[in-house]
Amino acid sequence: MAGKRGALIVLEGVDKAGKTTQCKKLVQALQQSGQSVEMMRFPDRTTIIGQLINAYLEKKSDLEDHVVHLLFSANRWEMVKKLEQGTTLVVDRYAFSGAAFTSAKPGFCLDWCKKPDVGLPKPDLVMFLQLSPAQAALRGQFGEERYETDDFQRTVQQKFDQLMKDPSVNWQEIDASQSIEDVHREITTHSLNTINIAQDLPLGELWK
Ligand code: ADP
Ligand code: TYD
Repeated sequence: MAGKRGALIVLEGVDKAGKTTQCKKLVQALQQSGQSVEMMRFPDRTTIIGQLINAYLEKKSDLEDHVVHLLFSANRWEMVKKLEQGTTLVVDRYAFSGAAFTSAKPGFCLDWCKKPDVGLPKPDLVMFLQLSPAQAALRGQFGEERYETDDFQRTVQQKFDQLMKDPSVNWQEIDASQSIEDVHREITTHSLNTINIAQDLPLGELWK
């Protein structure tokens, strides 16, 4: 398939929507269908920047809110070569989480929060796993990490709702309350369609 690029596919959603479960299943299914595909996740906690983020999320360090926002963005920019390389990537969270989570904090507007990620590779498809707080609660307790509270997640959901109004991004809302297999089937169908279309199109620039 020389000259053809893979697709950049992102899964977003609030905590416990099933993003990680679905990313793994999608990668497996695409690999089994003969596609060259890799998984990525943000934050990527393995890099030096990722370790700073990890300590912050685990409440082992305190960072100023603007600083941590920029670190999350830097953690995406440090992967830009990989994102541009043209293999199909399935990505667990992206700049949309970055903007939604920081703008859920007091004193931050969505517009400022989007700025550091402007110009990143634009996903060909962003699937938003939609799950109500009540349904998420049925999937177990929150962990101990920062941001894992009902109130904060509710505000994050509102910010995602605002982000999804942007028609420059190819959003696809998925009902994440379905069974794991039903969600998987829907996600795989959207992904295969996108891979087909994206191969003949240039990679876009996010929010530009
Ligand atoms: P996220 O990455 O969005 O936080 P996970 O994939 O880690 O979510 O899933 C959170 C929990 O919910 C896990 O215990 C997982 O097994 C469970 N889960 C995921 N998808 C579903 C589903 N469709 N129905 C019921 N439980 C699910
Ligand atoms: P993640 O490692 O995906 O955790 P989980 O699998 O438990 O959802 O994300 C960790 C947290 O970081 C999560 O609460 C969302 C938040 N986050 C940001 O605040 N900004 C960002 O840019 C990203 C990618 C995540």
